[in-house]
Amino acid sequence: MKLLLFVSALAAATPLGSLEPRQQATLCDQYGYWSGNGYEVNNNLWGESAATSGSQCTYVDGSSSGGVQWHTTWTWNGGDNNVKSFAYSGRQITKGQKISSISSIQTSVSWSYSNTNIRADVAYDIFTAADPNHSTSSGDYELMIWLAKYGSISPIGSSVGTVNVGGRSWDLWVGYNGAMKVFSFVAPSPVTSFSANVKDFFNYLQNNQGFPASSQNLLTFQIGTEPFTGGPATFTVSQFSANVS
Ligand SMILES: *[C@@H]1O[C@H](CO)[C@@H](O)[C@H](O)[C@H]1NC(C)=O
Repeated sequence: MKLLLFVSALAAATPLGSLEPRQQATLCDQYGYWSGNGYEVNNNLWGESAATSGSQCTYVDGSSSGGVQWHTTWTWNGGDNNVKSFAYSGRQITKGQKISSISSIQTSVSWSYSNTNIRADVAYDIFTAADPNHSTSSGDYELMIWLAKYGSISPIGSSVGTVNVGGRSWDLWVGYNGAMKVFSFVAPSPVTSFSANVKDFFNYLQNNQGFPASSQNLLTFQIGTEPFTGGPATFTVSQFSANVS
């Protein structure tokens, strides 16, 4: 009798035909991966071997065609100047779209950090390459939009000054990660609710930094957090959406 009551309570909590379809996943493997509704989420602990101790898991809280909700919890010690991971949500990208042929990349994100006494960034990460079949873990170019920077960390390269793009001012950093040229737009203070057309950032780079938009294909479109050290901390994305057209 008790078992029957338990089963009927579960059924009541997840009604069939719910208006908002939701998926859930727990990702604790190094590259634990989920996809659905044109979005993807990856635990992506690519730099974990630089840590002396720590761990991280990522949780998909829900998704629909309108976006994805997720969170990640981490603690990392050691390897102070090494990024340990980039847990992210991404929009799945159709191969072979040149940046010059894309008219808009409209995106919005709302996020929070439970603990800001950490060394970590919150950033969009976008790779492009001349080869449409280039590996999606790097590119010829990387565009980062740092919505927050906590602690003594900085982007690759050096600052070239303050620029105004998409109605906000940013500190623009330019440098190289191996052969890949990296542009990082850094917000002066945390932007926890962000909405923009990221094509504006590519237009800026084309007009001011020699970015070859007509030969570069969009490979990835992701947002997440890069922890260096600290925690425990939970980064929550209450909503992320992106549409390439
Ligand atoms: C990319 O891969 C597809 C499928 O394998 C192939 O048809 C195409 O020729 C490749 N493109 C280039 C530029 O290598």
